Amino acid sequence: MRVVQVTRFGGPEVMEPGEAPDPAAGPGQVVVEVEAAEINFVETQLRRGITPGPALPEPPYFPGGGVSGRVASLGAGVAAGWLDRRVVARTVGLRGGNAELAVAAVADLVPVPDGVGLPEAAALLHDGSTAVGLMDNAGVRPGEWVLVEAAAGGLGSLLVQLARAAGAQVVAAAGSAPKLAVARELGAEAVVDYSRPGWTKSIWEATGGRGADVVFDGAGGWVGR
Ligand SMILES: NC(=O)c1ccc[n+]([C@@H]2O[C@H](COP(=O)([O-])OP(=O)(O)OC[C@H]3O[C@@H](n4cnc5c(N)ncnc54)[C@H](OP(=O)(O)O)[C@@H]3O)[C@@H](O)[C@H]2O)c1
Repeated sequence: MRVVQVTRFGGPEVMEPGEAPDPAAGPGQVVVEVEAAEINFVETQLRRGITPGPALPEPPYFPGGGVSGRVASLGAGVAAGWLDRRVVARTVGLRGGNAELAVAAVADLVPVPDGVGLPEAAALLHDGSTAVGLMDNAGVRPGEWVLVEAAAGGLGSLLVQLARAAGAQVVAAAGSAPKLAVARELGAEAVVDYSRPGWTKSIWEATGGRGADVVFDGAGGWVGR
């Protein structure tokens, strides 16, 4: 099968196409014929040799922590009904998803409903569950002002929509005009460019002097401070 391999730590250019033997499903596992591979921010950090927590992989390694596609084969003990189903799943060891075939534990399979695209399902796998968890724990209420940083990113773009759906008003903060336009399209009432001086003052003004009731700090660093 065709695969992507990270040959050394670095930018996207260290990801190289290659060939590898087809994987086999172990007990309690399936092989997924990959339609879309998810990639998230942490994976890009690990590829650059930086870790926010998880152990750093040793290059060369096969990246890819999540995939969507059809179940192509079953390991021992897996119910026959999974064969050929459309699924999205984290990969075993959060590796090997950037390939034509990937292995996942049957316990990690999520059936993808008809009407939901496989690329969309893959994009929602990690950022979607994180966004829903953050919303649930923050307890956002109707009428509150919610500040979403990195608002056009994978996580931020979902938080903007979920906060709006909860009846809140959103101030979206991002680092460029095209990203702020995306946030507006997603429903933000106000947008602020945090690459410009005085951006925190703009948040006070946008919220009528009230400030944000809830802040989702997806940028951290000097923005978060
Ligand atoms: N724990 C979890 O399960 C989980 C899951 C998903 C995400 N996260 C975390 O949530 C954050 C956002 O993730 P994401 O998936 O939304 O990422 P993303 O789609 O890659 O977006 C990240 C955005 O952050 C902004 N940014 C600000 N400072 C940055 C910097 N120094 N380097 C790179 N980007 C910077 C950039 O937008 P601007 O140009 O607008 O500044 C960038 O587009 C990350 O910290 C990630 O680790 C955690």
